[in-house]
Amino acid sequence: MTVLVTGGAGYIGAHVVRLLVERGTRVVVVDDVSTGARDRVSGAPLEALDLTDVRAADRLVDIAERHDVDAIIHLAAKKQVGESMLRPTWYYRQNVGGLANVLDAVERAGIERFVFSSSAAVYGAPDRAVVDETVDTAPINPYGETKLIGEWMLRDVTRVCGLRAVSLRYFNVAGAGWPELGDPKALNLVTIVLDRMERGERPIVFGRDFDTPDGTGIRDYVHVLDLAEAHLAALDHLRHDGPGFDVFNVGTGASASVLEVIGQIELASGRRLQAEFVERREGDPAALIADPTRINAELGWRGRRNLPEVVASAWQAHRYRIDRDRAAGARA
Ligand code: WQD
Repeated sequence: MTVLVTGGAGYIGAHVVRLLVERGTRVVVVDDVSTGARDRVSGAPLEALDLTDVRAADRLVDIAERHDVDAIIHLAAKKQVGESMLRPTWYYRQNVGGLANVLDAVERAGIERFVFSSSAAVYGAPDRAVVDETVDTAPINPYGETKLIGEWMLRDVTRVCGLRAVSLRYFNVAGAGWPELGDPKALNLVTIVLDRMERGERPIVFGRDFDTPDGTGIRDYVHVLDLAEAHLAALDHLRHDGPGFDVFNVGTGASASVLEVIGQIELASGRRLQAEFVERREGDPAALIADPTRINAELGWRGRRNLPEVVASAWQAHRYRIDRDRAAGARA
């Protein structure tokens, strides 16, 4: 039995791969290495492949047969909301087109289990702060739309072949399970603030007039290692007969404001930060928090690590990267 992990060289994928390798599961990584890195796959074999390539499905069938693949965790995708608004066609091609090729291969190779990387972005800006999986999906950007379409595609495929699938709707992922596997890109609050700190710049806070206790946006921050564990729980769940397709929120149910996150970064780093407040960012809901009841009950998964642990691990990974880059610079 082998698990094929697409995007296994990326930030979240590398954590999933390491957990699988650590528990003795055979893994093959498929990644185009556009944002991921070869040294992040914990020794698993890596097949370099662009999933949007016209021959991608053929290549995947071949890889599945050579490695005796019986399950897929599909994480390979583009994930920048702002970029998706500027390049919608490209996002559909990457995320929807890429998934179509993967599902083509799933049908042809007779893969039975599938875990899909979805997002809280499928909810858009809902009229309540705490959302469970029954809340209407109404994405407000192409990125979220590609994830919702991905869920529909999967659901449809499970209706026509023996595939069983789970879609995991990630909330705000941050931190690092190991310092060398930290998020290499500064695209979300924690990494953006750390990145700015390094350049001697103040953190920017989008909006201080939300209807929240301190006026700043509230989110549900989930440790990337907890998130990775959710993928393994989903994979195990799919071993048993069950519904063809199911969706689960992956969040803690706990919430934190932007100022609370910045406060934790001050604690972890020992540095004082003076936030700069600017206008709200377009499309930002005041609060978005997971109701994790379903995943707690059905997968037996819960987010075990709290915000201080999320931020402290992100800080350690940040320091690790700075030291490594400095050492590389000194050698050059
Ligand atoms: C968090 C909070 C910002 C940066 C996005 C995607 C979502 C999911 C997770 C993948 C918000 C505030 C941020 C900054 C700030 N991704 N902020 N200053 O927007 O909640 O969710 O990532 O699936 O789909 O939309 O995450 O980290 O950008 O923002 O004040 O410099 O921090 O306004 O309240 P977001 P984020």
